[in-house]
Amino acid sequence: MLNPRQRLRPRLPLLGDAPAFRQDLLATLARGRFEQGDVARYRLGPVTVYGVSSPEDAERVLTDSDTFGKLGPDNPLRLALGDGLLTRSDHDSWLRNRRMVAPIYHRRRVETMYTTMQDCVQEMLVRWQDELAPGAVIDLHTQLMHVTLDIVSRCMFSMPMISADSALRPESVEYAVTYTFLRLQNPVAPPTWVPTPANRRFAAIIGGLDELMASMITQRRRTLAAGEPGKEDLLDMLMRATDADTGAQMNDTELRDEIITTLAAGHETTAITLTWAFYLLSTHPVWRRRVIEEIDAVLAGRAPTVADLPKLPLVAQVFDEALRMFPSSPTVPRQSRRPVRLGPYDVEVGSRVLIDVHGLHRNRRHWPDPEVFDPTRFGPEGRSGRSRWAHLPFGGGPHLCVGKQFALQEAQLLLASIFSRYDVRHHPGYPVDDRATITLRPRHGLRVVLHPRLTARLVPARKVA
Ligand code: HEM
Repeated sequence: MLNPRQRLRPRLPLLGDAPAFRQDLLATLARGRFEQGDVARYRLGPVTVYGVSSPEDAERVLTDSDTFGKLGPDNPLRLALGDGLLTRSDHDSWLRNRRMVAPIYHRRRVETMYTTMQDCVQEMLVRWQDELAPGAVIDLHTQLMHVTLDIVSRCMFSMPMISADSALRPESVEYAVTYTFLRLQNPVAPPTWVPTPANRRFAAIIGGLDELMASMITQRRRTLAAGEPGKEDLLDMLMRATDADTGAQMNDTELRDEIITTLAAGHETTAITLTWAFYLLSTHPVWRRRVIEEIDAVLAGRAPTVADLPKLPLVAQVFDEALRMFPSSPTVPRQSRRPVRLGPYDVEVGSRVLIDVHGLHRNRRHWPDPEVFDPTRFGPEGRSGRSRWAHLPFGGGPHLCVGKQFALQEAQLLLASIFSRYDVRHHPGYPVDDRATITLRPRHGLRVVLHPRLTARLVPARKVA
């Protein structure tokens, strides 16, 4: 958030709130809530934007997709993700694809991916054990970005995609996300074909990703055509699916868009929230001790199995509270498709409506002392009586995050496995600050000191094909 001594950029005649949005999205939305209430109006050049921060209004917007649709074809996210689940604006074809992929995200199916998730985590822990001296300082955020990308690649596409020369690197994803955000907030951004340094770098990243996706698709088509046994993963599922009406299968562009959407949506969000969870525990030693006690009581130094996860409720509550305080998707955008009234405003067709998730999670009517880290808010008593629309880290309504179960399982596994072996503390010499774009990431990463808690050595995990 904005340094309190720094001033937020004023509303300008032509650009409106665009400079303030670009300077500090969360502070601008906070100013809007303070000045206007639960529904606040902003202007980004010619585009009017409404910020919504009450559970009642959020429910209305997220459940009425006839009135509040996904952003249209000019959504800058499509420059990277194409027309995948996250960005598809046509409701019928979105629903068809959502139904197609839904089975792989069911709880039972996600549980079968646990061993692969565990292998990825164990490989990271073995690397730490072999390469880091006790008390080493690491950027935990970078490590978590790598392991979550590894997990989603191996679980959904049966292939590791992390390597020094891979086009798919956390840094490229980060650049692409920031580039897209800046275009979203800048009504006068130069067209993508103008060879500015930013446009050229973005095009190079997307070109590299396209090549990677193309070779992945070709390789899998070849193995399927050769009659080799399928991998039973998301890629197989997408390739075999046929449209009930037309009998058509997905072409390479559709496949590319769904793969890239899954990789992008499926790792940074989880990595960021885990980073904030470690930061919050590091700065709240009483909670850190309780979490470690819970983990030790259940695991006694061994790796967590999937059956252990329900026995680690505090770990899950910490993740929920981190999602409340630092929602990795701080806003969820929609576009109005018909005239509608929201709060005191008549919303015109084509306006952007932003669920201000960060503001909603700090709405004092639903969250007492919202600035306080308190995982008991998500215990059985803490939850009772609260609207489920007051906590929307995964969105809500028909577009509710399809990967929610996957993310929750992965997060519990990572928190429990890391704390089982290490006490993790923020290094006080490095600043921590948030930067909200499309995601809410720690601006400078998170430097932590790792203190080993166990002397027993880990053995490398079995290699996954
Ligand atoms: C902590 C982790 C995560 C958070 C906070 C998160 C958040 C979100 C949110 C807020 C949406 C709704 C967007 C909208 O309504 O416009 C969404 C959608 C989506 N998420 Fe997640 N997500 C997470 C993890 C994952 C994972 C692990 C995957 C896949 C492996 C995934 C895949 C998707 C996809 C494909 C969509 C589009 C769903 C649709 O519109 O049908 N997400 N996510």
